[in-house]
Amino acid sequence: MSSIQRVLVVNGPNLDILGRRDTGIYGSLTLPEIEDKIRTKAAELGIEVEFFQSNSEGEIIDRLHQCDCDAVVINPAAFTHYSYAIRDALEALDVPAVEVHLSNIFAREEFRSRSVTAAVVMGQICGFGWVGYLLALEALKLIGGKDQ
Ligand code: DQA
Repeated sequence: MSSIQRVLVVNGPNLDILGRRDTGIYGSLTLPEIEDKIRTKAAELGIEVEFFQSNSEGEIIDRLHQCDCDAVVINPAAFTHYSYAIRDALEALDVPAVEVHLSNIFAREEFRSRSVTAAVVMGQICGFGWVGYLLALEALKLIGGKDQ
């Protein structure tokens, strides 16, 4: 396994309005504030991070196609539950991906407990709020990436 040096962090629809969206579920931090925390953790781990957020399925797929990082951390948001197109794009990646959810998707509405993307990523972290993104970086760093 080679060392993870560059990670793409992708956030899906409605995560751009964190901080004012269902704060009881998602917490009070905005996406830029969460990205700052990710950046700090990444620096500690010696990882360079790149961020991408979109409310559009096609833009997320295009960004995954262009991925030139060692790993991907993705919160596909509501697309998690039904986007076979994002699932296929994740499956086509030749680097590991980790799925993150701020909330515990298994403790909410029934439709949220199904992830069509989870089976094609290395693993899923959910229910730990923004800390989940940091855990994903830690896991990737400990496990390592694809041998070149
Ligand atoms: C989410 C959970 C999804 O069900 C929801 O649609 C989101 C956010 C999470 O981070 O907990 O937008 O992915």
